[in-house]
Amino acid sequence: MSDLLDVKNLKTAFISDDEVVQVVRGVSFGVNKGEIVGIVGESGCGKSVTSLSIMRLLHSTSGRIQDGEVLFHQENLLDLSEQKMRKIRGKSIAMIFQDPMTSLNPVLKIGKQLVQGIMLHLKLSKEEAKRYAIKTLESVGIPRAQNIMHEYPHQLSGGMNQRVMIAMAMSCNPELLIADEPTTALDVTIQAQILELMKKLRDEKNTTILFITHDLGVVSEICDRVIVMYAGVVVEEGKTQEIFNHPKHPYTKGLIKSMPKIGEKRKRLNAIPGQVPSPSGMPKGCKFAPRCPHAMDICHRQEPVLKMEPNYRKHRCWLFQDHKKEDSKKEGSEVDA
Ligand SMILES: Nc1ncnc2c1ncn2[C@@H]1O[C@H](COP(=O)(O)OP(=O)(O)OP(=O)(O)O)[C@@H](O)[C@H]1O
Ligand SMILES: [Mg+2]
Repeated sequence: MSDLLDVKNLKTAFISDDEVVQVVRGVSFGVNKGEIVGIVGESGCGKSVTSLSIMRLLHSTSGRIQDGEVLFHQENLLDLSEQKMRKIRGKSIAMIFQDPMTSLNPVLKIGKQLVQGIMLHLKLSKEEAKRYAIKTLESVGIPRAQNIMHEYPHQLSGGMNQRVMIAMAMSCNPELLIADEPTTALDVTIQAQILELMKKLRDEKNTTILFITHDLGVVSEICDRVIVMYAGVVVEEGKTQEIFNHPKHPYTKGLIKSMPKIGEKRKRLNAIPGQVPSPSGMPKGCKFAPRCPHAMDICHRQEPVLKMEPNYRKHRCWLFQDHKKEDSKKEGSEVDA
């Protein structure tokens, strides 16, 4: 059990008139105090929906949490009233969204948005909150922070709004910061600066960070632990070094292989042949099997469970579970242990 956040068997679906499409299909993982944990996986695997489910921020969509628990300090957030949940959002758990306009209010000046939250959560006077807001804006590398306080989001560039949102999330010293692709829209220098800032937050304030990203380079730089998701479930989990040096799941191996080498231009992960299955047309068995170079008969028939090794390393793959001997003999596949 983890001492800060424990997500247990989380299932989330999008519901329309004629379909219920489960996109998070039983996600479980834990995060300890002061850890920086990365969630990686190709587009559409359910990273954002998982984080929105943790924050209970799906009400503006057709998404519904169907099952599971989100234990924060052992309290199930899914059982709380909306009023209690609102207190937790922003103060104890803050989120940086993939799209900054999700959390910035277009009709309020930047300063007002920041100051409101700071006054509410940190119980500071207006003047103190203003000074604190300017300091926070400066800490995320915003030039002319004093002037920016009087501007509206539409007057700023996308990258600048992203930084304002990061400042807003960090301003109330949350215990847990969920950062969903926080640096994707930013140039490399600013990205490095934000990553440094997050490390500093953890080192100085023991902030716990759940860092969602496509970018394995970023993961290797700041995460202590990595969770690899595919098609709505966790397929591998372990310490960052372990995962990078000894990946076990063929999907993780594919992701690592597709990392751009130093000096190459950054691009989306695309080197694994085949497509991510659509949530409404998932294959039977292991969802990665159709793209997997090691797929055996059993892989197409039955989805493996997430198996835990004694060192907290986890993987969801038949190559490392019972059946492997019989099925690999039958199929003649190599077992790459
Ligand atoms: N509001 C929504 N309504 C219906 N389906 C949605 C909605 N939001 C996400 N989905 C679907 O849920 C699945 C998981 O999406 P999610 O946004 O969590 O992926 P992701 O891993 O964050 O991808 P990306 O890396 O592109 O951000 C996808 O199939 C997506 O199409
Ligand atoms: Mg996303």
